Amino acid sequence: MKNKDYLKNMERAIGEFRCISSVLDEKHQQVLEQLRVAMEEGAKMLVPGEIVPPPEGMEKEDSEPHFKMKSIHMRDGSDALVAFTSQDEVDLGESTEIVMVEVSTLLTTVHVEPNLSGLVINPWGMDFLLGTELISEYFFSEEESSRENVVYIGVHDITKAEVDCIVNSANKSLLGGGGVDGAIHRAAGPDLLEECRTLGGCKTGEAKMTKGYNLPAPFIIHTVGPIYSGKKEDKQALRSCYWNSLELAKAHDLHSIAFPAISTGVYGYPMEEAAEIVVETLEAWFQANPNYGMAIMLACHSEKSRVILDRAYKRIVELEEA
Ligand code: APR
Repeated sequence: MKNKDYLKNMERAIGEFRCISSVLDEKHQQVLEQLRVAMEEGAKMLVPGEIVPPPEGMEKEDSEPHFKMKSIHMRDGSDALVAFTSQDEVDLGESTEIVMVEVSTLLTTVHVEPNLSGLVINPWGMDFLLGTELISEYFFSEEESSRENVVYIGVHDITKAEVDCIVNSANKSLLGGGGVDGAIHRAAGPDLLEECRTLGGCKTGEAKMTKGYNLPAPFIIHTVGPIYSGKKEDKQALRSCYWNSLELAKAHDLHSIAFPAISTGVYGYPMEEAAEIVVETLEAWFQANPNYGMAIMLACHSEKSRVILDRAYKRIVELEEA
């Protein structure tokens, strides 16, 4: 089927939709089913947004336009992402830049971004709101995610990530520090340090787990990245941080994990080099665990890091799929 057929089916199901209560009647289910089919077949929706200037220092070599998806303010003060099934639906409202975004990207963004309350389809016409809880439950619930390995790359404060576990870029003492280590200890509270004292430190490339305490994430995986030296051992050590953290999460049957850009701050690992290693490691882990179902968030601390990781991901993964 062509992309526009998936969108037509979605539009038809929304048109028939007569849900008058919060209970999902069969019409509501039809819309969700059309979204699922579109998601699994890689269909794209029309998404409004704006072209934003590339982050400083990226202008020259980065020719891709930078596009920020637009959200709309809901009556309850929350924000929701917007998507359309056709240009006709777009034209019912004020004109705006439009880009085609995969349904899976839209749903994953709403699922992992805590400040989004849902996705509004065709807001200017036969609007249909999909709340975050419904998206998370219907598209990313335990049994569903047991099949899907997904990666989400976004600018995100990892201490706010609503995932099963976040990864801390720590030092060998595990007794706290600056950067993301400091941010996580501050947000988790003093009980985290108490538990860390019992762990006996951590070697570079290894990973140890604690509770998350005051964080939204119930668990933290502490790993120690390499201090960049330019030697080839750095690559293996950095790869081990991601691999061992994923293995530890899997051993605890966790299905969503957020990583900071390990070693790219105080430890001086150049972001471009690190990005390649991160993407290759995640792809290798997915190949070794095809049906585990791990939702990985790469929580970048700047738009610049996000762009570098996104480009590395597109270059390596799309090359593989080509
Ligand atoms: N959310 C997401 N990412 C963050 C956050 C945050 N709240 N705070 C910082 N970062 C990013 C940084 O911008 C950097 O890209 O995390 C990445 C890792 O940077 P550092 O925290 O400096 O960690 P690292 O380079 O691995 O050095 C580890 O620094 O803080 C000390 O105790 C730590 O000795 C250890 C060393």
